[in-house]
Amino acid sequence: MQLFYDPDDLPDAKRLNDKRIDWLREIGAVELHRALPDATGFLFSYQHGESHLVQQVEDHPGIHDRPSERQELIRLDDILRTLAENEIDVPTPKTWVLEIDQELPDDLKFPLFLRTPRSSWKRGGEQAKVRNLRELADESELLRRAFGWNTPIIARQWLDIAVAGKWMFGNAPQEIRTWVVDGEPAAWSFHYLHAVPNPAGFPLSEDDLSQLKTMAATVAKPFHSRLIVVDFIRDTRLQWHFIEAGPGAVAGTAHQWVFKYVANRLVGKETNPIADEVGGAF
Ligand SMILES: Nc1ncnc2c1ncn2[C@@H]1O[C@H](COP(=O)(O)OP(=O)(O)OP(=O)(O)O)[C@@H](O)[C@H]1O
Ligand SMILES: [Mg+2]
Repeated sequence: MQLFYDPDDLPDAKRLNDKRIDWLREIGAVELHRALPDATGFLFSYQHGESHLVQQVEDHPGIHDRPSERQELIRLDDILRTLAENEIDVPTPKTWVLEIDQELPDDLKFPLFLRTPRSSWKRGGEQAKVRNLRELADESELLRRAFGWNTPIIARQWLDIAVAGKWMFGNAPQEIRTWVVDGEPAAWSFHYLHAVPNPAGFPLSEDDLSQLKTMAATVAKPFHSRLIVVDFIRDTRLQWHFIEAGPGAVAGTAHQWVFKYVANRLVGKETNPIADEVGGAF
């Protein structure tokens, strides 16, 4: 069982100042093109569409993610639908999927947070708040211009977030990225660590960690990837809300130790579960 990375991703990693490939190499990951046909393991890469992943792993049936495992975690509308179909109940902002040229649902309630199935502007904060129909139309148009003229808009009940600190786009949230390995919540870290090195609201209490662990396992349940990230934000009333989930193979983090711990777990290596104030093993 081995960890793999694709050297074609190196320029993107450099541009994005993403250290994960360096960290993977430090713990023994191998270049994908060196994988033998019968290799088993897990590939960390960037998301360049389903056909790209098919190409990467078609000759290596033992390397995960398999394309179907990855695909079910790419779009937030798909993820929320899967959770609903499986009657999975976790606290999450009420969500409306707005299709182009369809009438708005009549129970839409402002303020809202808008994003597309695949991505938001990644800024969050007050500037992302949509307060009325006018702002909804303007913001939807901007999102469609950037992400595709016919993309559905995902409108979510606005959460008053507990603030971790300031960064270039205003307030950064107390947001936690959890990592679920083979269905088991393995580790967590503060998600805006790259922006706020000493966040307010940390360390988390035992009770917070136990809630996050339970919620992460619950969200991951209907999905098949060996590595799933599940993100949560805390509101000003200190309640946790599930925000989004995604494939761990393509998920970023600034927490080196948590990332290495999780990657080692994928290949059956149990390393020392060290923890600090902003991340640790569950
Ligand atoms: N309902 C909400 N109310 C207020 N702020 C929100 C809400 N949902 C998300 N945010 C803020 O916006 C940020 C980005 O949202 P989200 O994680 O859904 O999109 P994304 O990170 O762009 O998606 P992806 O990681 O899949 O590319 C969050 O970190 C959070 O700060
Ligand atoms: Mg996010």
